[in-house]
Amino acid sequence: MTHGHAHGVGTTDPVIVLNGVHVALSDARISVLDRGFLFGDAVFEVLRVYGRAPFALDEHLARLGRSLEGFRIEPSFPMAELRREVHEAIQLLAHDDAYVRVMVSRGEGALHLDPRRARGPTTRVVIAAPLLALPADLYDGVSIATVRAERSTDHTRAAGAKTAAYVANLLALQVAQERGAYEAAFTASDGSISEGHSSNLFVVRGGEVLTPPLSSGILGGITRALVIEAARDEGVTLRERLLFVSDFERADEAFLTSSLREVVPITAIDGVRIGDGQPGPVTRRLHARYAQRVRAR
Ligand SMILES: Cc1ncc(COP(=O)(O)O)c(C=O)c1O
Repeated sequence: MTHGHAHGVGTTDPVIVLNGVHVALSDARISVLDRGFLFGDAVFEVLRVYGRAPFALDEHLARLGRSLEGFRIEPSFPMAELRREVHEAIQLLAHDDAYVRVMVSRGEGALHLDPRRARGPTTRVVIAAPLLALPADLYDGVSIATVRAERSTDHTRAAGAKTAAYVANLLALQVAQERGAYEAAFTASDGSISEGHSSNLFVVRGGEVLTPPLSSGILGGITRALVIEAARDEGVTLRERLLFVSDFERADEAFLTSSLREVVPITAIDGVRIGDGQPGPVTRRLHARYAQRVRAR
């Protein structure tokens, strides 16, 4: 058991379930011929654990299934098995608030891009780790920077899949950080802003909430979908349409969503203050509704 194997105050090794087997971190190894390593030929999910319960596990596994389909990766295990492994990893970690990452690659193959040369079986890894502390001032508001970038699956049949090939996202984050921002906002050639490097984006103007449509190639965030439901519960009008920098600059409020961070106020874009530069009331209401849904499950 890896649990309790502390390297320092407050640190715990992650729990690893590799192809169905619980292994110590130091024994968790995959082949250098794994296509996830060689080509990013893999998909993944990240979800949050509250009080030892995985939140929205059904939605995450359903999205993983769609990502696998987009890549035409045929999993060599039943999804029910993966679900069991997620629960096992969480129980073994024994931390109330945790993070779970599920990765599935096409598996090993010849040293060749041709997907038909994959020998299978698929490689699957479930990692459960204590949730890293979020920045203490996160909910006071963050800044975003627009970065002209395209995701590796844009305009492909796997558009919107949660691919492990996150290189465009990490390069965008690096540029945003160099500009002193917290999150990168992917900007297309038409100037529309689709999503954060690891979040979905929303603006609020005149009491109305706006967010880019799924057809813009964004990841269909699980948190995004739940916030859209929260808006309905709150009687707040929500519309899906393309957003531009000017929409953020003129907005009363803006926020981002992700499974680990929930709903985070955005108070500046490219150094320009949004609204009064403080987290807004609609953002707070939607976050509170979201938190209610978390407790209700
Ligand atoms: C590119 C991108 N968009 C959106 C999200 C938010 O998705 P979810 O709410 O399902 O965590 C993520 C999450 O990591 C992401 O990486």
